[in-house]
Amino acid sequence: MLFNLKELIDSRQGQQLSLLSEYINPQMAKVLKILGFDPVYVRGRGAHLWDDRGNDYLDMLSGFGVFSVGRSHPRVKEAIRQYLELDSPNLVKMGTQLFAGILAERLIDEFAPPGLDTVFFCNSGAEAVDGALKFAHAFTRRRKFLYCDHGFHGLTLGTLAINGCREFRADYEEILTAGTEIPFGDTARLEAELSRGDVAAFIVEPVIGHGVFIPPDDFLPRARELCTRYGTLLIADEVQTGFGRTGKLFACEHWGVVPDIMTLSKSLSGGYCPIGAILYPRKVYDKVFSSLDRCMVHSTTFSQNDLAAVCGLATLDVIREEGLIENSARMGAYLVERLRDLAAKYEFIREVRGRGLMIAIEFGQPKSLTLKTGWKMIHGINQELFCQSILVPLIMDHHILAQVSGHGRDIIKLIPPLVIDQHDADRFIEAFDQVLAAAHRFPGPIWEVGSRLAKAVLR
Ligand SMILES: Cc1ncc(COP(=O)(O)O)c(C=O)c1O
Repeated sequence: MLFNLKELIDSRQGQQLSLLSEYINPQMAKVLKILGFDPVYVRGRGAHLWDDRGNDYLDMLSGFGVFSVGRSHPRVKEAIRQYLELDSPNLVKMGTQLFAGILAERLIDEFAPPGLDTVFFCNSGAEAVDGALKFAHAFTRRRKFLYCDHGFHGLTLGTLAINGCREFRADYEEILTAGTEIPFGDTARLEAELSRGDVAAFIVEPVIGHGVFIPPDDFLPRARELCTRYGTLLIADEVQTGFGRTGKLFACEHWGVVPDIMTLSKSLSGGYCPIGAILYPRKVYDKVFSSLDRCMVHSTTFSQNDLAAVCGLATLDVIREEGLIENSARMGAYLVERLRDLAAKYEFIREVRGRGLMIAIEFGQPKSLTLKTGWKMIHGINQELFCQSILVPLIMDHHILAQVSGHGRDIIKLIPPLVIDQHDADRFIEAFDQVLAAAHRFPGPIWEVGSRLAKAVLR
């Protein structure tokens, strides 16, 4: 019998949550249900998703940043279609791959910062970071890595050692010995650590994803200088910030900094299949792959796979030809401006910050007495409940998908597809305005959402 995807969908549609709960992650299934993040999505295109009732959702989350070119981009779909017709000699392994070679060439010739002339392909952001750490060790022969508080680089054991988010490390602290944390933006601490001469690499997200923290203007240029002075490699983790997310091709460009190694992933394949990449200089390559018998000393089976490379090639075309980097800068500035107008209206909003379409809305304790009471009450139960109480009506009443950023913080983060237009941005602002207006009434519907969530969590 022929495989029939449509029949499969028709017979199983609507079972997503029960399958997640039964076979994959029951706790996640509970969270989605409690928060009302459980519509049955049946279609996705551009910056939008549709559920089985025909509701149109605005996606301000873009699959944690993979759908920069928007969902179901016709150009990427067409590339996949054409590829499938080829019966291509994929993953020969003891052989060569045309598409991965061309993607590497384009990344280096058209996209990479100067000096980065070699590519290692892998399948995820964590794999890219893990590999970059290994390469830095091979080059410097040093054992220590520096990372920043709140920095996030993945959840494999290797990347956990340099993860600045305590909540992820908690159970593993004893076996995470290679990393030392410094405060993001603290050049004095950075120099104190680097000057010991034992640091292989300083790894940093130019804009920290968990919370959207932007460094002081001198931090990255100083980090560049200090790493050079003390023989440490500077790794820019652009897994999230790369390919236009912050309104520049790479976020490093905001500060004119060229790293020694750059890690990429997420949006590079248009969201269709996993991909990761390390861009690095030949002098580092030569220390890792240092002889014929070490030609596979770092490797992963799906590295250089055709489909990821073809998707990558189509995605790079879209990013360039549709002006997505410019759109990110333009729409990001527009959203930040309109959000700052809301900040003047609502005392909950402490700060709006962002670069391009990577934006944080941070809330803080309000001044007025009644609202302060509500704020304290809700934070007494759970640190994330306030933001969730904002996100729940946002999705349920306005069909807008967004996320809390980081653990135990009052930050909502927006990372929509880079294709959003002014209509989408206005839709978000109007909905957000209405939700915040409701939150300014205590007692009121938003606070009831909070207490309903609290009861569900306690249950
Ligand atoms: C900056 C950064 N580095 C690394 C990673 C890990 O990527 P992955 O989830 O693909 O392993 C992420 C994921 O969010 C990230 O934001």
